[in-house]
Amino acid sequence: MANVIKADAESIERAAGLLRAGGIVAFPTETVYGLGADALNPVACARIFEAKNRPSFDPLIVHIARTRELENLTETVPKRARSLIESFWPGPLTLVFEKKYTVPDIVTAGLPTVAVRMPAHIVALALIERTGRPIAAPSANPFGYISPTRADHVALQLGDAVDMILDGGDCAVGLESTIIRIDGERAVLLRPGGLALEEIEKIIGEVEDASGPSPSPKAPGQSLSHYSPRTPVRIVRNNDIAGRISGNAGLLSFRPPPDTAGYAHIEVLSASGDLREAAARLFSCLHELDSRGLDIIIAESVPETGLGRAIMNRLRRAESHYNKC
Ligand code: TXA
Ligand code: MG
Repeated sequence: MANVIKADAESIERAAGLLRAGGIVAFPTETVYGLGADALNPVACARIFEAKNRPSFDPLIVHIARTRELENLTETVPKRARSLIESFWPGPLTLVFEKKYTVPDIVTAGLPTVAVRMPAHIVALALIERTGRPIAAPSANPFGYISPTRADHVALQLGDAVDMILDGGDCAVGLESTIIRIDGERAVLLRPGGLALEEIEKIIGEVEDASGPSPSPKAPGQSLSHYSPRTPVRIVRNNDIAGRISGNAGLLSFRPPPDTAGYAHIEVLSASGDLREAAARLFSCLHELDSRGLDIIIAESVPETGLGRAIMNRLRRAESHYNKC
């Protein structure tokens, strides 16, 4: 893992130099690790698609360190978007705006809109500042696979395909950002994520949920096979864990299970049943289970409030990926 480097002032400066020169660098955010390139350099952005094996129809999120950088990316910032920015940036909230001509088409996959967020991570913010450009970054995983929440996840999945991996430790939120589009009078949820919908609705009122899976995705993150481990996943409802064991099975349980007999490996999301902790651990538990050579991963469902909505969204996608195979 030669290209993994602990994030400090010196390595961040080097990473910024690589980005300015058209390189691609993986870096930590509070949600998941991103794979960054200079958002205003289309050739550098093309390298992201190549490294991820990502279909070119899938647009990238642009990361900024100061709200005023929005002026270079969008024509207007609607009032309700402004309220959300004041309440939640920096943080796990991505907003979709009408794009300015300056944003290359490869970043937005030809859409007239651009997705922007300000990450709440000291390394990410320093990297954007030192680079002096907005940074386009999807999650730093091969297309369709589980997002990385640690530097070694990135190294294992993408390795030498990236110029540098900045190690900033574990991601505190552990789930990708929540994506919202403010569209005239409507506020639309495109992807549930690390900021609970309830929090957003407290600020701007009701948000329309358009985050369900769709065969021709509005946000390409809605495609069914996103966020999937290679091992098949089955969600167990009614906490019916004991009845579902077949073959070499692993268990992803929300709380410590009463009966663990028969499972080859078990990962517990939260000893106390806390949804925030469960969200933070979800992807690293799935990475661990996926590395164990299991026939199936049995996943216990979690309550669908707060961050539980995003957790179940990711688990359902993982399950339907298996159904399609
Ligand atoms: O937390 C996050 O959002 C992480 C970190 C690295 O910031 N990034 C992330 O990026 O999850 P990615 O590329 O894996 O997912 C971004 C999603 C995609 O599903 C894409 O479809 C959607 O954002 N998106 C990007 N631009 C969009 C646009 N203009 N309209 C609608 N959806 C958009
Ligand atoms: Mg992703």
